[in-house]
Amino acid sequence: MGAIVALAAGCEVAGEVSLTNLAVAAHMRGRGLGRRMAVELLTRLGVERYPAFLEVRTDNTAAQALYLRLGFITVGLRKRYNSDGSDSLAMVRQPGPLPPLLLPSLPPSRRLDDGDGDDA
Ligand SMILES: CC(C)(COP(=O)(O)OP(=O)(O)OC[C@H]1O[C@@H](n2cnc3c(N)ncnc32)[C@H](O)[C@@H]1OP(=O)(O)O)[C@@H](O)C(=O)NCCC(=O)NCCS
Repeated sequence: MGAIVALAAGCEVAGEVSLTNLAVAAHMRGRGLGRRMAVELLTRLGVERYPAFLEVRTDNTAAQALYLRLGFITVGLRKRYNSDGSDSLAMVRQPGPLPPLLLPSLPPSRRLDDGDGDDA
């Protein structure tokens, strides 16, 4: 049985997109999977037409770098936003196209099934 190696969650309500969760298993990070998941989800939620919002911990530099590359900018600080009392940044992205989705350069044996059934 396969294992879940990444997840992305979000929603679009009344013309505003929220990215609520994004995570990649530790052993699969740094291969482009987080970017791919985020781009796929944000595209499906309509960020080319709608503004998008998220919160990210102030010490999470990896996630912040990813979001910056996707066009988010920091617009505020949410003090004690997290259950452990730590702070988060509020980030916003204006509507518009996402950068081209670059597929992770995994060796063929570790490539993900793209779901179209042709192994390409
Ligand atoms: C944030 C996270 C989802 C990134 O996933 P990933 O698959 O490792 O990211 P990718 O390989 O797609 O990298 C995409 C971009 O993220 C940034 N990034 C990823 N890892 C980074 C690191 N360790 N340091 C700095 N930037 C990093 C880079 O900008 C990178 O683009 P580049 O390779 O062109 O420079 C992953 O680190 C994770 O699951 N972290 C724990 C959960 C979490 O913090 N989620 C975010 C909650 S808001």
